[in-house]
Amino acid sequence: MRPLTVCSDLYHEGVSSPAPVTKVTGRPRRGAIVPMGGLSMDLGIRLIRIASVYMLVGLAAGIAMAVSKDYTFLSVHSHILLLGWTTMALTGLVYRVLPHCTNTRLAGFHFWAHNTGLPLMMISLTLTLLGNDAAEPLIGIGSILVLASLAAFTLNVFSARRAGTDQNEMLTISSPPAAARTRT
Ligand code: HEM
Ligand code: HEM
Repeated sequence: MRPLTVCSDLYHEGVSSPAPVTKVTGRPRRGAIVPMGGLSMDLGIRLIRIASVYMLVGLAAGIAMAVSKDYTFLSVHSHILLLGWTTMALTGLVYRVLPHCTNTRLAGFHFWAHNTGLPLMMISLTLTLLGNDAAEPLIGIGSILVLASLAAFTLNVFSARRAGTDQNEMLTISSPPAAARTRT
């Protein structure tokens, strides 16, 4: 049967890989992205899970806003949903599609900067809209952290490929697993 090259990510959670499996390994080139300890292949899932919590919070805020007809917190509602749900879930999906991008320092920075910058931005925006002017500078700091996190994400998407680390995650197998063929 024609050999099939699949991404190692196919074999996550309950989908076993058939033998024989040849893993293509290689020393990352000088300057290549160094694997990052704690955040490995399930980074995408973590982002999607956190994003789904933002979705619930954002939807609840939208309903509260619609019911009360008080649009003071419109930007909190919109950015919780657009940066917290949409953007975070999208980056999580990107990590699932491009698993070679997950195990890097840039991915770790992206994760932590987004997850500190966005709450900081949203909480300080809410406080500012409630009249606490002292919180206003924190909106800027949170925004810059979010921007930096998404800049790291962008750089990661480009540089992980350039470093050739994607090839380290490719498996050459003799035939596709039955579970992978039938999965929907
Ligand atoms: C239960 C669901 C939702 C409710 C009840 C809701 C409610 C609202 C309300 C009352 C407004 C103010 C509308 C106005 O300015 O006249 C608004 C604005 C907005 N919502 Fe939602 N929303 C919901 C879901 C979402 C979702 C899922 C997203 C994005 C993923 C979203 C993004 C926005 C944005 C971007 C604005 C600002 C629009 C503008 O500036 O014109 N909303 N929403
Ligand atoms: C660092 C990230 C971001 C910052 C600092 C930022 C900042 C802002 C500011 C200052 C406003 C005007 C708010 C007002 O008129 O009171 C705004 C509005 C808006 N932004 Fe953003 N934004 C960011 C990310 C995004 C992203 C990623 C999206 C979409 C995916 C988005 C979509 C919108 C929309 C639809 C509005 C109009 C609705 C509203 O006033 O909330 N923004 N943003």
